[in-house]
Amino acid sequence: MNGRDVRRVGVVGLGAMGAGIAQVAVEAGYDVVGRDVTEDLCAKAGERISHFLQRKVDKSQLTPEEREVALARFAPATSLEELAQCDVVVEAIVEDLEAKQALFAQLDEVVRGDAVLATNTSALSVGDIAASTSTPERVVGMHFFNPAPLMPLVEVVRAELSSDDAVETAFALAESFGKRPVRCHDTPGFVVNRILIPLLNDCIRVLDEARVSPEDLDTAMTAGAGWPMGPCALVDLVGIDVHVHASEALYAKLHDPRTAPPPRIVAMRNEGLLGRKSGRGFYTYESR
Ligand code: 3HC
Repeated sequence: MNGRDVRRVGVVGLGAMGAGIAQVAVEAGYDVVGRDVTEDLCAKAGERISHFLQRKVDKSQLTPEEREVALARFAPATSLEELAQCDVVVEAIVEDLEAKQALFAQLDEVVRGDAVLATNTSALSVGDIAASTSTPERVVGMHFFNPAPLMPLVEVVRAELSSDDAVETAFALAESFGKRPVRCHDTPGFVVNRILIPLLNDCIRVLDEARVSPEDLDTAMTAGAGWPMGPCALVDLVGIDVHVHASEALYAKLHDPRTAPPPRIVAMRNEGLLGRKSGRGFYTYESR
């Protein structure tokens, strides 16, 4: 089974992940309806996509014409009704179960009955999100990794009631994006976050245990373990709030102390040090 024909993709929530997913989809030739709650947020996502596609033109990875064609495929929207004719809708809003359930209940009403509804959740249960709809068989996880345009992996997550057709449609869509999807079941943290979240928490604990600076810890893990970027830079990229939330969600389900967010990073989150997006986390950033 290869899933069904997809032409139009919806993306709901146009933050760093949603804009990245929309970028990948327009580059792959899909018409994309990108929805966020205000015109300003939609415009910012459009600018972000435009910027990264321009960088590709600058580096001769894309022609100016290809960039224009790709940008023209992105249709910003502030109303959910504009997603009605999408074949697949990918949700990338805030990591809050109630917010996602409320959104999926609305998507269930407005999006064509045979469309697939996918969540990009990091650590929530896809089944819990699907339970807010009357059609849980069409709900799956499509978990992209940050930065979505650069990271090849997509975890295609099968919840208890997901249909084979929905899973295979999401898998084929991820492949057509040029990604390397894997299929997995709806367990806490799926595959990567089940391993990566406790590991990053260990790294943060080592900061205090070994009294090493974030810079030196990052050097240790890039130069000594071959990581493409150090753990502090990675948590700053992912977002300190996102990492704390994912840790709390895993801890609530697994009760493994390694999954609990270390106090140091909870304090950073509470103080508004959210990493790249706020301009400061373990490091400071000029551009976000
Ligand atoms: N969106 C779109 N394009 C981007 C981008 C973004 N956010 N960030 C960078 N780019 C583009 C830029 O145009 C950039 O070129 P430019 O600097 O000339 O403009 C180009 O990509 C290449 O960027 P880099 O030179 O920074 O690329 P690198 O070769 O250094 O690789 C990396 C960057 C792929 C991020 C690499 O460092 C890496 O693999 N890091 C690990 C990332 C990782 O582990 N992510 C997973 C996090 S866990 C997660 O997401 C799960 C979630 O649930 C929490």
